[in-house]
Amino acid sequence: MGMTAASDKKRHEELVFEIEAHNYRYYVLDAPVVSDRDFDKLLTELKKLEAAHPELVTPHSPTQRVGGEVREGAVKVTRAVRMFSLDNAYSEEDLNEFLRRVKDGLSENDTPMFSVEPKLDGASVEVIYDGGRLVQATTRGDGETGEDITHNLLTLKNVPGSIPHKAKLTLRGEIVIYRKDLDTLNDEREKEGLERFANPRNAAAGAIRMLDPKEVAKRPLRAVFYQAVEGAAMHRSHTETLKWLAEACHLPTHMKETLCTADQLAAAIHAIDEARRHYPFETDGAVVKVDSYKQQDILGFTSKFPKWAVAYKFQAERASTTVLSIDVQVGRTGALTPIANLTPVELSGTVVSRASLHNADQVKELDVRIGDEVLIEKAGEIIPQVISVNLAARKKTSVPFDMPSACPVCGTKTESRLREADKPELGAESVTRCPNRGCPAQVKAKIYYFARRFAMDIDHLGESLVEQLVESKLVTDVADLYALNADAVEALPRMGKKSAENVVTSIAKSKERTLDRLLCGLGIPQIGQIAAKQVAEEAETLDALLQWSPEELRERVGGIHGFGPKMVESVLLYLADSDERRLLEKLKALHVGRPQVKVRAASSGPLVGKSFCVTGVLSQKREDVHALLRAQGGEIHDSVKKTTSYLVAGEKTGKSKLDQAKKFGTQVITETEMNALLSSGA
Ligand code: IVH
Repeated sequence: MGMTAASDKKRHEELVFEIEAHNYRYYVLDAPVVSDRDFDKLLTELKKLEAAHPELVTPHSPTQRVGGEVREGAVKVTRAVRMFSLDNAYSEEDLNEFLRRVKDGLSENDTPMFSVEPKLDGASVEVIYDGGRLVQATTRGDGETGEDITHNLLTLKNVPGSIPHKAKLTLRGEIVIYRKDLDTLNDEREKEGLERFANPRNAAAGAIRMLDPKEVAKRPLRAVFYQAVEGAAMHRSHTETLKWLAEACHLPTHMKETLCTADQLAAAIHAIDEARRHYPFETDGAVVKVDSYKQQDILGFTSKFPKWAVAYKFQAERASTTVLSIDVQVGRTGALTPIANLTPVELSGTVVSRASLHNADQVKELDVRIGDEVLIEKAGEIIPQVISVNLAARKKTSVPFDMPSACPVCGTKTESRLREADKPELGAESVTRCPNRGCPAQVKAKIYYFARRFAMDIDHLGESLVEQLVESKLVTDVADLYALNADAVEALPRMGKKSAENVVTSIAKSKERTLDRLLCGLGIPQIGQIAAKQVAEEAETLDALLQWSPEELRERVGGIHGFGPKMVESVLLYLADSDERRLLEKLKALHVGRPQVKVRAASSGPLVGKSFCVTGVLSQKREDVHALLRAQGGEIHDSVKKTTSYLVAGEKTGKSKLDQAKKFGTQVITETEMNALLSSGA
């Protein structure tokens, strides 16, 4: 194909610029100026141009928004400037304290102006543009070091892959989900039998770290920038920079900053509190920043916070209502959680009739009783919390609530003990558990968890079906799922033939999930998705895992990168438990779970020194093919490069990839030929 003509390169640049400008008008300003048809015409022209000149395709192109290759794992990035957090203010007093410090830090006639803006409730990110291109995005991590999420950011519709400003620009912002999008997302999840996200923050924080950019592209994530830490030196102040980011670079900012004097601060904060219910995103406070960069520099930082900014946290919305009854739920691990049923009351726009009481400690501390008038608060969560009891209004006949001494579901005597809290600063909390592993509530929750998307991913197995399967005793543990036949399922109330067949097919299909998903689905304490994958890679097969002696197990699991003593103990305990072992043996006999292929490239093997680019439609998932190649020492290239040895071309391989291969003399092989290479080494 030769060199790209200068005119084609120029046209490519123009098209990218024009398309990004329309994206900005559509996704950020919500004010498109072209019809969808005209927009598609531009995109089609760009696609054609890129097909003819594959060297013009980069991950930044608007054609690549659907997401590229799956990441293999988290890559840590240490950033140039640490990401600080903000000190909080909860009252006018706190705010005045902040003002006093600012005044003390500046010389007498150096009067500061302040920017007041919404505090966005999402997941923090840093995004770097260089040479006009988005070159890096990272999560907050511990502030110093974050996780590389560049390819995920490039799938966000409101984030341009390229901007007109060519010098380096380091931005900070939040990944958020608009409220309206969360409703839609949650409705979809419910249909798939998945749990609803409690708030946009949780939904955004989870999604932005996913390893598959194609999955990220499907989530309604948006970035909202609130700060430039590098590259803004051409401006004198924060508000100037924000304005420039939006106007000159078409970058998404919150566009809600107001500039005011110290005297006007309280009013400006109040105005945001009043307006925030109309904002498209969740806002849990107002951020006050000294506007002038020069003054910011003079004020500097404490070890944790900038001295030039503070987050004023709004009072969460509260409402008063009556406790009608207290239910006790039994979870997957047998833990009992009290839930208060309330007289329905409106709270931040929704009607609330249940509130979490968290655990026995909280019930005791608050002394919540049936019949009490309570204050409930919603802090971005879907289930609100009870925060206080109006003791003056308490009826004399009321009795304290005690956690049941018998499981409300199976009647087994409950056990209470102290558990180390997730948040150690809050101290240990007590948990009451039902010790009966056969308790229908536990069994149901376990099966439902097993079927979830991040675990065995069993479609059509929603909560209500799990309930029926357990109630009818068709299923007593996750292994029983694999013995189900469609006739038995169809015989359940409200079940049709087709739905029954669908479920049974989905269950059978899930046998093919890799060992990591199986281990994750078992819900071994402390062992989440990532840890499960590490254990699976160490063992490779369920059989191997079951055959290890306790000493071997301790050695192998203990050697896994990042596994602390608690995690090792948890795996050991799980595998030492005769009931759990019986379950694992049952699953093994049913051939549930495929062997795990190590993802890391093997350092020896017949394919060492060979590199592959895999493309087109193959008979297996692309990530699985990658894993096979890597297992024999092969290296994977995302695109055909000068150094790529083979292009594995599946059906519908794009012309651009083939052209690249020709250009670089890369050998083009079919999937069958690749398999031959693989088995020659096996
Ligand atoms: S400015 C030096 N502005 O809140 C710190 N932060 O608790 C400058 N946040 O980590 C931060 N909205 O992720 C700033 N308008 C806003 C913000 C904001 C949300 C987040 C940010 C930060 C956290 C601090």
